[in-house]
Amino acid sequence: MATRTDTIFERFLAPIAKLVINQDELKRFHESIDWEAASDRLSNPTVAYPTYYRSQNFHGIEGGYLTIGAAVSYDPITQYALPPNEQWVRQALIDAIQSKPRRILDLGCGTGSTTILLKKAFPEAEVIGLDLSPYMLVPAEHKAAQAGLEIQWKHGLAEQTGFPDASFDLVTASLLFHETPTAIAKDILRECHRLLTVGGEVLILDGNQKSLRQTEWLTDIFEEPYIREYAQGSTDAWMGAAGFGKVQTQDFWLLHQVTHGVKAIAAQSVEFSTPNFETADGKQWAMG
Ligand SMILES: C[S@@+](CC[C@H](N)C(=O)[O-])C[C@H]1O[C@@H](n2cnc3c(N)ncnc32)[C@H](O)[C@@H]1O
Repeated sequence: MATRTDTIFERFLAPIAKLVINQDELKRFHESIDWEAASDRLSNPTVAYPTYYRSQNFHGIEGGYLTIGAAVSYDPITQYALPPNEQWVRQALIDAIQSKPRRILDLGCGTGSTTILLKKAFPEAEVIGLDLSPYMLVPAEHKAAQAGLEIQWKHGLAEQTGFPDASFDLVTASLLFHETPTAIAKDILRECHRLLTVGGEVLILDGNQKSLRQTEWLTDIFEEPYIREYAQGSTDAWMGAAGFGKVQTQDFWLLHQVTHGVKAIAAQSVEFSTPNFETADGKQWAMG
């Protein structure tokens, strides 16, 4: 795994990460999988990587998510990156779901940790995890198989999924928006709106924008190219602009937030016919 040498992440966090992460376990996991074969199988050759994704390093890893290194190290690092407890933070998204969805799409699913919780919460539902990195989908598929869960994994763009209109009743994204430019987060929300049935829910779990605005040093540490932009924005407002109703953000342990919205019935101009009738005195009246 190639890493930059001039970053805060590399200078301070990478050595700490090396201390707390079980390197042997990481190595064993790495060696237990034929990564090239698995990522080739999960790849969609028609997917074109946008510049905002391809050109950036994430968390100090050169090549970002399009590397085996990112996929192998993601889970061991993330368990320390979501205080007070990764499971609680992910569960906050599950707890905010208000319906019993039958078709669920998890965008930017990464190694599938939230996708797996969704399938466990709604075992009857058809669940699909979508990510732009075929390498990230490899551990996702592995973890679901280990847990005996049937989940479909799809390689693709969250902002242009290719699924038909109104084909899901729940669309989620955890820890995706701080990884994309604001314009793309907005495109993703418009795509969520298109994908949902009327009454369907969208749920976005990510860093708390209010807290991130007040702790700029935190935004520098994790080597996230778009996190400053994300911190200045408002997922609430983006969701409203995408057409969602009942938009609400709940803070979770100050550092995280879950934003919920519902696809409302589209406002339509309705034409009423106004039947005229004549009264006994011969006057014309119109109803309405
Ligand atoms: C921080 S990880 C979050 C993974 C997972 N959702 C989780 O909660 O752990 C961000 C993921 O989003 C993916 N991603 C970034 N931009 C994307 C896009 N435009 N479309 C689909 N996936 C994207 C990355 O490949 C990466 O796996």
